[in-house]
Amino acid sequence: MFPIVSKRPLNEAGTVLEYVIKAPLVAKKCLPGQFIVLRLDENGERVPLTIADYDREAGTVTIMVQPVGQTTRMLELMEVGDSLADFVGPMGKPTQIGGQKRVCVVGGGVGCAIGYPVCKGFYEAGIEVDMVAGFRSKDIVILEDEMRAHSTNLYICTDDGSYGEKCFGNAKLEELIKSGREYDEVFIIGPLKMMKFTALTTKPYGIKTICSLCPIMIDASGMCGGCRLTVGGETKFACVDGPDFDGHLVDFDSAMRRGAMYKAQEKAAVARREEHCNLYKMEVK
Ligand code: FES
Repeated sequence: MFPIVSKRPLNEAGTVLEYVIKAPLVAKKCLPGQFIVLRLDENGERVPLTIADYDREAGTVTIMVQPVGQTTRMLELMEVGDSLADFVGPMGKPTQIGGQKRVCVVGGGVGCAIGYPVCKGFYEAGIEVDMVAGFRSKDIVILEDEMRAHSTNLYICTDDGSYGEKCFGNAKLEELIKSGREYDEVFIIGPLKMMKFTALTTKPYGIKTICSLCPIMIDASGMCGGCRLTVGGETKFACVDGPDFDGHLVDFDSAMRRGAMYKAQEKAAVARREEHCNLYKMEVK
């Protein structure tokens, strides 16, 4: 069993929660960009989540969760002292850190929870990092202090202008590129649509662009095909070939269609759960 050591909301709106989990074997080996697969109980759904941070000495791993599906909403009800049945990892290939002089990490919304450890990994390796963090509005901004402490420059953007600059992350990135900022690489993490348009932004400039993709996964070991993506015309499995891929080669449109395939089932699962649990009253979006 894997106990929850701490739990806290990461923004005013409480839309993203941080959990620190005691998992010494995962903490011993994990690297930025890798993920874990958890199950709440032995009959539970397998949910892949990117490792947001780790403490090898304490034997803990940090994950960040946006409660939107059935399992993540059940996880939201768990508290410090409760335990997860499974916490398997580290899975996937680590982000390639090294050899770059200056990079830009662009995070969109809760994607900043994944962008942050990558940003920190670059920064701690002595690489200059511009972090562009985009959010819809001020109340859902996460990890501002952490990103600021582990980047050369932090640029916060909000769609509605309620905090930072009023623009989208890809517009800020383009402004930086046009101002003469030279990047060896741009790393993008966020909703698929945001990654698609940010990758399109870097393409005319010929900047190496990496996107982190975490689609629906089942076995997370390359056997079921659930996480398949089309990259450069070839089928790839995010769980074993990724999660990082060349953003100029990913077929984002097919990834978006696959991502929407199970929405009806997810909604039905949440509705079934609501019937049986008084604590479970949140509306599915
Ligand atoms: Fe089954 Fe990746 S989750 S192949």
